[in-house]
Amino acid sequence: MAINPTKSIPAFYAGQSIFLTGATGFLGKVLIEKILRSCPDVREIFLLMRPKKGLDVNQRLEKILNLPLFDKLREERPSSFKKLIPIPGNASEKVLGLSNEHKQMLIDRVTIIIHGAASVKFNDSLKYAILTNIRSTRDICILAQSMKNIVALVYIGTAFANVNEPFIEEKVYSPIADWKKMIDVAELLDDEHTLNVFTAKFLDYAPNTYIFSKNLTESIIQEYSSSLPCAIVRPSIVMSSLKEPFPGWIDNVYGPLGLYAGGAKGVIRVAYLSKDTYDNIIPVDIVINAVLIICWKLGLTTFSADSSLFVLNCTSEKCLTFGDEIKLLFVLNDETPLEGAVWIPKTILTDNYVLFNILTILLHVLPAMLIHLILTCFGRRSMLPRLVRLLYVANCAVSLFSFNNWKYNNANYLFLMSLIPSEDQETFCLNYFEYDLKEYFKFTILGFKKFVLHEDINRLDAARAHKRRVELFGTVVENIMFFGMLWIIYKWIFF
Ligand SMILES: NC(=O)c1ccc[n+]([C@@H]2O[C@H](COP(=O)([O-])OP(=O)(O)OC[C@H]3O[C@@H](n4cnc5c(N)ncnc54)[C@H](OP(=O)(O)O)[C@@H]3O)[C@@H](O)[C@H]2O)c1
Repeated sequence: MAINPTKSIPAFYAGQSIFLTGATGFLGKVLIEKILRSCPDVREIFLLMRPKKGLDVNQRLEKILNLPLFDKLREERPSSFKKLIPIPGNASEKVLGLSNEHKQMLIDRVTIIIHGAASVKFNDSLKYAILTNIRSTRDICILAQSMKNIVALVYIGTAFANVNEPFIEEKVYSPIADWKKMIDVAELLDDEHTLNVFTAKFLDYAPNTYIFSKNLTESIIQEYSSSLPCAIVRPSIVMSSLKEPFPGWIDNVYGPLGLYAGGAKGVIRVAYLSKDTYDNIIPVDIVINAVLIICWKLGLTTFSADSSLFVLNCTSEKCLTFGDEIKLLFVLNDETPLEGAVWIPKTILTDNYVLFNILTILLHVLPAMLIHLILTCFGRRSMLPRLVRLLYVANCAVSLFSFNNWKYNNANYLFLMSLIPSEDQETFCLNYFEYDLKEYFKFTILGFKKFVLHEDINRLDAARAHKRRVELFGTVVENIMFFGMLWIIYKWIFF
């Protein structure tokens, strides 16, 4: 007897055809793995993909399926990979650059759309951010309107789309600008100068072009929600998996990991942030479960023009301040140090801009110039001055998040949790409230070492020994420099 989909999330997904954009990204890959593993009777998943770095979409998919993320599935049910159908396209092109044939196939077969593709760079040009993040969402909504069997369209937004609000409700706020006009402007204007003027004007209201585009996109979803069963999921900073498919899966530098990695390697000696600001981190598997539960909820609700848009703040109530977080990461780094540290792992955190600049010159610029000079004398090239500049720019670019706290209404999150059928509580868990942060970060560091830095976890003893040597050497050099300076000052004053 068929299981009632109201009592089982996997039963609901049986026979569904999903169209996923952003399939090759951090969230997209975890989403693919989770659907195939936990909803084995899903009919198919169409993946919007673009060729990249010399690989066509099939080669890219093959590479993705060889990642450790898919180990479990590859062992248990490799046949499920046949359900993945790559669709060549590009979100920055009109109608996602789809061929007529693929467009028709999607129209005929898709029942659920999960739209996660976005350019997440803060420094994209306004034109590119509008075309890739805003226009693509409009075109997806238009495409969805011609799909006869569509039951859910979930858009992955961000918890930082409304940075001017201190308390974020689960609703769409008035946008910074009119998305229709902005698409017209981006399509019409090629003139770099005029676009720069526009960028400067709009960046009075948004910190960067990414947030600007994410802010406007929410209004598109709201507008189309009168004709489509839509929802918006707004994750905060998405980090490594809590449990699934295993703890610690991560494939890039997210959240505080950039600062941690630079600090642990002895490269970042000073950072500009407030120690008291909370870092709102949410594990990737929790976000993915939320997306899948929302699709299930939308799919079981009879849609009418009066149906209200479901907005979910997918944020954490269990946060550490940056100060405590970095302290914890450095304690964990003593147990599982990163390999190849070049100096003592120690980062000064300051919220004083003048002090930050002085310390940047003393601890970043001058040592980098000295090493650069020495290497140049030996005929070697050095990337250090460029690295120092990049670090400075990156630190300033994220300062909005390092100095501001936002509070989030999580009523819909709790409501969603209450809807999960009893049999699916484990498989589609949204309960992160009880997890141990220290344990979570321990797995995060291990995952980061393994999957991002490609370090061998069996070389931990060697990494610890190297760290001890670097610390000893660094302490000796720092003491010599300190007492040397004292001696110079003493001589200068008294002789
Ligand atoms: N990660 C976070 O902390 C976080 C937090 C809040 C919200 N979000 C949102 O979650 C979504 C997914 O983020 P993510 O972390 O998975 O980002 P990601 O790893 O950078 O992935 C972005 C995805 O979008 C695709 N994409 C970008 N430009 C495209 C284009 N022109 N045509 C086709 N595909 C394109 C990328 O494809 P390629 O591989 O071809 O580049 C990739 O699949 C985004 O909408 C993001 O705004 C993420």
